[in-house]
Amino acid sequence: MKGRNTDRVIIFDTTLRDGEQCPGASMNAREKLEIARQLARLRVDVIEAGFPVISAGDFAAVQEIAREVKGPIIAGLARCVPKDIDAATAAVKPAGKRGRVHVFLATSKIHREFKLGKAKDEIIRLAVEGVRRARSQVEDVEFSPEDASRTEPDFLIDVCRAVVAAGATTVNIPDTVGYAIPDEFGTLIRHLHEGVPEFSDGRAVISVHCHNDLGLAVANSLAAVRNGARQVECTVNGIGERAGNASLEEVVMTLRTRAGSFGGLHTTIDSKEIVKASRLISRLSGLLVQRNKAIVGENAFAHSSGIHQDGILKKRETYEIMDPHDVGWGATELPLTKHSGRHAVAARLKYLGYRLTEEDIAAIFARFKEIGDKKKLVYDDDMAALVEGQIAEVPQTWTLDYLGFTSGNTTIPTATVRLARSGSGKAEATVAQEASTGDGPVHATLRAIDRITGLTGELADYTLRAVSQGKDALGEVAVKVNFGGDEPVSGRGSSTDIVEASARAYLNAVNRHFFTADVRRRRPTAAAGRAEKRSSP
Ligand code: KIV
Ligand code: ZN
Repeated sequence: MKGRNTDRVIIFDTTLRDGEQCPGASMNAREKLEIARQLARLRVDVIEAGFPVISAGDFAAVQEIAREVKGPIIAGLARCVPKDIDAATAAVKPAGKRGRVHVFLATSKIHREFKLGKAKDEIIRLAVEGVRRARSQVEDVEFSPEDASRTEPDFLIDVCRAVVAAGATTVNIPDTVGYAIPDEFGTLIRHLHEGVPEFSDGRAVISVHCHNDLGLAVANSLAAVRNGARQVECTVNGIGERAGNASLEEVVMTLRTRAGSFGGLHTTIDSKEIVKASRLISRLSGLLVQRNKAIVGENAFAHSSGIHQDGILKKRETYEIMDPHDVGWGATELPLTKHSGRHAVAARLKYLGYRLTEEDIAAIFARFKEIGDKKKLVYDDDMAALVEGQIAEVPQTWTLDYLGFTSGNTTIPTATVRLARSGSGKAEATVAQEASTGDGPVHATLRAIDRITGLTGELADYTLRAVSQGKDALGEVAVKVNFGGDEPVSGRGSSTDIVEASARAYLNAVNRHFFTADVRRRRPTAAAGRAEKRSSP
C-alpha cells in the first residue's frame, strides 16, 4: 500500500472491532459477515474484523471474514504478546496477502507507570519483539503506540523508528482517550513525519485513530491528514468505545466536499453505499443513529424552514453542500407487494447484498407474505428487518403462535399469548398458552410470555422505531432484558403491530438467553472469554 507521498487517504474501518466495543453493540458472526460484505461494497481499504485472541467467537468471525470477503485488507488486533499475535495471524490467514496483523502496546507515561509498570526501554523492546514476531508470519504489520497523543513526542519518535525498523509498514497514532485538539494533534503528526525518515519517504504510512470524548475525533483526524497522515481509522456512524471513534462518513465526505482545502486528497470510498452501511450497522448493533447526525441522520438533508425550502427549490446548492443521492439517500427502490413471488423476493435480497441459504429465503418469504398481507408496500428497509430477524443465529426455542390483546383508556390491558416450543433431544415440541394483565398491552404481553417460559425478565432498555415509510410502516423494537445474569440480553423484532413487534423482540431475547445458557453449560470457557473481552482496549 502506498505511503504519504500519494494523495490517497487509506480508510481503515474498525466498526467490527472498536465499534463493537461500544457497550451493548456486540454482534454475532453472521451479522459481522454481513457488515463486512457491506464494508467491502463501500470500498474501505482495510476492515479490522476483530480481536481474535479474545474469544473463540471473535477468532471464528475474523477467520470467516478473511475467507469470505474479497477486496479489502482484513486485519486482526493483537496485544504485544505471542499468543495474541499468533491468534491474529492464524485468523487473517485465509485472506492471504490481504491479511494484516495490528499489534499495540501503550507508550504514554501514565500507562507505562500505572498500567504496565515498565520503563521506556522495556516498552521499545516489547514493541519491537511483537512487530518482529508478527512480521515473521505476515507481510503487512501495523503497530499502535496506545495513548500516543499523551506520549512524550520524542519518545514517540523513538518508538516509531524502532517498530518501522522491525518491519511495521503502518504506524497508527491513537488518541486513545480523545484528549487531543486539532492544532496540537496536527503538530504531533508533522513532528513524527519529519522525525522518521520512512514516513517522509513513503516507506511506512502514518495512520491516526481518534476517539470522540471531546467531540473532536473527525477534526483531529483531518488535522492529521493535513500534516502527513495517510490512513484514517474510523467507524460507520462513529460507534466505538465510550463516545465513539471518528465517523467514517464524516471524514470521507469532508475530504470529498472540501477537496480543494485538502490539496486534492481523496479516498476510494463508494459514497453511494454510505446510508445503506449506516442503516445496516445501526440495526445489527442496536445503536440508533441520532436524527441530526451529519450525513446519515434522518434530518441530515431535511429542510423544515420555509426560506430554506424555497431556496432549495430554486437551486439545491443554496442550502445543501452535498447531494443526498451521493451518499445513498433516496436510492430508487421499487417496493415489493404481497403479490410478489418468491423469485422477486430472492432477487431483491440479492440486490440488497445478502447471501442467504435456500432455507433462510424460505423463512423470510413466509414472514414477507405475513407482512405483505398487512401492508401494501414492502420497502427495502422492511426486507432488511426481516433478514436481520432471520440471521440472528439463535435457535428458535420459543416462537410466537398467537397473540391477542385488549387495551384502551378505560379497559384493563390484557393479553393472551400462545407460544410453540421446538422439540430437542427427547423433549417433544409443545404449545403453551397464558394470559396476563399489565400496565399496558406490551407489559401484559411480556408478562404472559414470562408465565409460559418461567423466566422473569426486567426490561433494561426498549426502543421502537418505524423501519420504513407510511402509516403502515413496520415497527422495529429493540430490547435489552435482564434475566438475572451478568449482562442484559438484547433482542429485536419487527411487525406492522408494535405489540407484536415487542413480543417478537422479547422472545428473541428469551431465545438468546436460553441459547447462551446452553452454550455456557457445554463450553465453560466461553464465560471466561467474555469476561476477558470486557477488559479489551
Ligand atoms: O484507542 C486505541 O488506542 C485503540 C488501539 C488498540 C488502536 O483502539
Ligand atoms: Zn480505539
